[in-house]
Amino acid sequence: MIDLDKIRAQRVKWHEWKNIKSLRVALENLPTLQDVVFSLDNIIKISSKEATQEEKEQIKKMAWDLRPWRKGPFDLFDTFIDSEWKSYIKYNLLEPYFDLKDKCVADIGCNNGYYLFRMLKHKPKKLVGFDPSIHCKTQFDFINHFIKSPIKFELLGVEHLPYFENRFDFIFCLGVLYHRSDPINSLKALYSGLNSGGELTIDTFMIDGEEEFALTPKGRYSKISNIYFIPTINALKNWCERAKFRDFEVLETKKTDLSEQRKTEWIQGESLENFLDPNDNNLTIEGYPAPKRVYIKLRK
Ligand SMILES: C[S@@+](CC[C@H](N)C(=O)[O-])C[C@H]1O[C@@H](n2cnc3c(N)ncnc32)[C@H](O)[C@@H]1O
Repeated sequence: MIDLDKIRAQRVKWHEWKNIKSLRVALENLPTLQDVVFSLDNIIKISSKEATQEEKEQIKKMAWDLRPWRKGPFDLFDTFIDSEWKSYIKYNLLEPYFDLKDKCVADIGCNNGYYLFRMLKHKPKKLVGFDPSIHCKTQFDFINHFIKSPIKFELLGVEHLPYFENRFDFIFCLGVLYHRSDPINSLKALYSGLNSGGELTIDTFMIDGEEEFALTPKGRYSKISNIYFIPTINALKNWCERAKFRDFEVLETKKTDLSEQRKTEWIQGESLENFLDPNDNNLTIEGYPAPKRVYIKLRK
């Protein structure tokens, strides 16, 4: 039996890690601003008429020190955090398919909480983000210092859902499945995290074709080292059925392009433009089919 409190206690110690400690200290010293207003639209914008120039500079420095910003964008007191991903494209694609009012909701692999902040508008009963990255949690804490939302961030992974104290009415698990070496077990964990009749929304890389196949990259896929299985839609359906889900529904399929993911000054490394074959954008640099995602809704 896994003891989540023990895992939480161990992971809180990650705040003391060398590269994180100074960021956590900076978090503690952020100004407490009055009259903070925010809008939870495509750009999550936070402002305050009371913020001084000095306070704005302090916030800008902390945002810069917190790079890379993969998910966003955010506008914090006139600093525009132009994240690598325009995360509103995925969020806006999915939002017509859910109504979270008064529901218990989890976002598994929530990164810095961009989608969770957007979901506040739905007035859910409870919002919980799971992500084992201390860097993501620190970005979340930074944004939430100003928004002061009741969102709970757990430094846990999808594999911990079967042991979690609550079940959820809605679970989102976006862009995580291909990082798991055992995707069917991850789907089983997601199933166990849902209340009866609850809904799961996932997205994952896919390959075209009617066969029940999954691509298994030899090393990297699109320069990403931890991509294990990229299924056809029919193979993904089989995985979901093995995990006992019903009502498999394809919401959308979408190729990732430069209007959604690209290099900005808010990440230090490369982005999609370097991950694709320069002579054929239908292929990754390794020669695999270029990233394409399928968005799926399922029911327990
Ligand atoms: C490709 S990003 C997707 C982020 C976001 N869900 C989205 O769709 O834009 C994968 C995320 O999964 C997180 N992650 C890594 N291991 C995980 C695990 N075991 N369980 C849940 N999330 C995990 C990473 O820290 C990262 O934030």
